Amino acid sequence: MSGSSFWKEFPKPIVALAPMEGYSDSAFRQVCKSVNPSIVTYTEFTSADGLHHSPDRVRKKLQFKPTESPVIAQIFGKHPETFVSAAKLIEDMGFSGIDLNMGCPAKKVVKSEHGVALRKNHDLAFKLIESVVKATALPVSVKSRLGWEDSSDLEAFCLGAESAGASMIAIHARTYTQPYKVAAQWSPLYQLKDKLSIPLLGNGGLSGLADGYSKIENLDGFLIGQAAMGNPWVFSESNPSPNFHEKIPIIKAHAQYLIEDKGEPVGCREIRKHLVTYCKLIPNARQWRSELVHVESLDAIQSILDRMALTLSQSLPID
Ligand SMILES: Cc1cc2nc3c(=O)[nH]c(=O)nc-3n(C[C@H](O)[C@H](O)[C@H](O)COP(=O)(O)O)c2cc1C
Repeated sequence: MSGSSFWKEFPKPIVALAPMEGYSDSAFRQVCKSVNPSIVTYTEFTSADGLHHSPDRVRKKLQFKPTESPVIAQIFGKHPETFVSAAKLIEDMGFSGIDLNMGCPAKKVVKSEHGVALRKNHDLAFKLIESVVKATALPVSVKSRLGWEDSSDLEAFCLGAESAGASMIAIHARTYTQPYKVAAQWSPLYQLKDKLSIPLLGNGGLSGLADGYSKIENLDGFLIGQAAMGNPWVFSESNPSPNFHEKIPIIKAHAQYLIEDKGEPVGCREIRKHLVTYCKLIPNARQWRSELVHVESLDAIQSILDRMALTLSQSLPID
């Protein structure tokens, strides 16, 4: 499949783990793929300038395992020349696609005229897409939002992105100014879809696969983000609500992958927030939490999880 037709020919609906800084790293992608091998994954967003200036350091953050494929590497920035060198590196690393972040609302990112700020500068956004498309054989996609304050430029932006060579677009169905507590509005996406000839994915507020299938309508797929935190089973077709005993092997695997990738001190620090989220609904969660936020080794994590399982099976109070 050539770059431009890759996503068109990809089996539909496309279901993806959304890119999430601090969450969608290699370990979590492996875990989500183990729950549903047919999903697509995105990396956390990665600075194109960083990849250009310190390729070895940033490459480390982008490492992935073959079991995570297809993986789309997401980059952000505003300089065509750094996007081009980042694209070459991403292609060399064996990713299945490159995604250009044009939706991040973080203050620092917007102030630097990256992320969603590109919605205020369509010409630069299209130039970035064109430069990357010319530089790589990989499919180049774009992830953005409905718009800045409303969705009035959504159609012009997406048609321009398509003309510049984008081969898929994912839209988080909120504007830049809408906080997460505002319900995502998918209707502008359904209207947009018929105007585009490339795949269009919806995103925002989905609780799991069933919710995605019910909202997808004429779209080509959807991304799930926050609902997957501590709950990769949102991607499961067969068992979306496993009991805690069934969850334990996956939680242990998550810890193991993270610690293998980042080493015990960093891996343990990073797994704590995931452990707390995995365990937030079990009885006495608050008491277990105080242990989980202090884990220092993989052995300790495994032993806490084993104790949890035993306590739950015996319904014993924790002392
Ligand atoms: C902690 C966190 C980190 C995120 N990081 C990224 C990112 O690196 N790149 C990106 O395009 N979107 C990022 N997003 C946005 C998500 O990809 C997604 O668009 C948003 O969370 C809405 O989907 P959801 O309601 O399913 O979570 C992030 C969101 C969260 C909550």
